[in-house]
This record gives sequence, C-alpha cells and structure tokens, in this order.
Amino acid sequence: MTDELCLHISVMDEKHDEFLELLRRIQSCPKEEFMPLFVQMIEHTKEHFAFEEEIMNANAFYAKQEHFDEHRSLLGEMEYFYEKAQKLPMFGKSYINDYALDKFKRHIINIDSQLAMFLKDKKIEL
Ligand SMILES: [Fe+2]
Ligand SMILES: [Fe+2]
Repeated sequence: MTDELCLHISVMDEKHDEFLELLRRIQSCPKEEFMPLFVQMIEHTKEHFAFEEEIMNANAFYAKQEHFDEHRSLLGEMEYFYEKAQKLPMFGKSYINDYALDKFKRHIINIDSQLAMFLKDKKIEL
C-alpha cells in the first residue's frame, strides 16, 4: 500500500492490504466472478471491522462510537450497492470502480489513523 495509508500497526495494515488486493481483483475480474467477489469483499469488510471494534472495546478507545458508526455506514452502503447490483449490474460496477477506493482511503486516513495513534500513544501491543 502507499505510505499515506500505512498506519504502522501491522495487524491493521494487513487487513487494509487484503482489502485493497480484493478490490483490485474485483475491478478487473471477468463478469461471472463479479458478484461472488463482491460477496467476498463484504465478508472481508465485516471481519475487518469486527476486528477493529474488538480492539477498541478491549482498550476502551475514547472515540469508539464515532468509529463504530462509520463502520456501520460503510458496510451498509456496500450491502446496498450489492443488492442493487443484483438487478442492475451497472450500479455495482460504478460503486466498485469509482467510489469504493476513495471511501476506504478516507476511512483509513481520517478514522483508523486516530485508533492507530491511540494504540501507539498507550504503547498497546497487538
Ligand atoms: Fe480499518
Ligand atoms: Fe475502521
């Protein structure tokens, strides 16, 4: 991943790398793999978010509510576009090609970075 996305918390960076890899695959996959990969991306995102939420709960992170809300909204949006794409593939394509990467980057830079900084400040080893 690019430097701006690297948080230097390896367990978090790993999840983000996996997501970026999945996104790259889905952006260039054959038609018949699009929906199955979309499902995989939703599953991966659920796991990624649950993992961060566990860290926040375990360490009483001060801004967890905001972070949880942002997770709900990102996941809800992803599921919404998946549902839409069942009937109108164009909706899914435009979300994947024009929107998802930007949304994801913004979450890392604005929200995940706060959590990473908190963990570093408190010298919490994961
Ligand atoms: Fe994350
Ligand atoms: Fe997050």
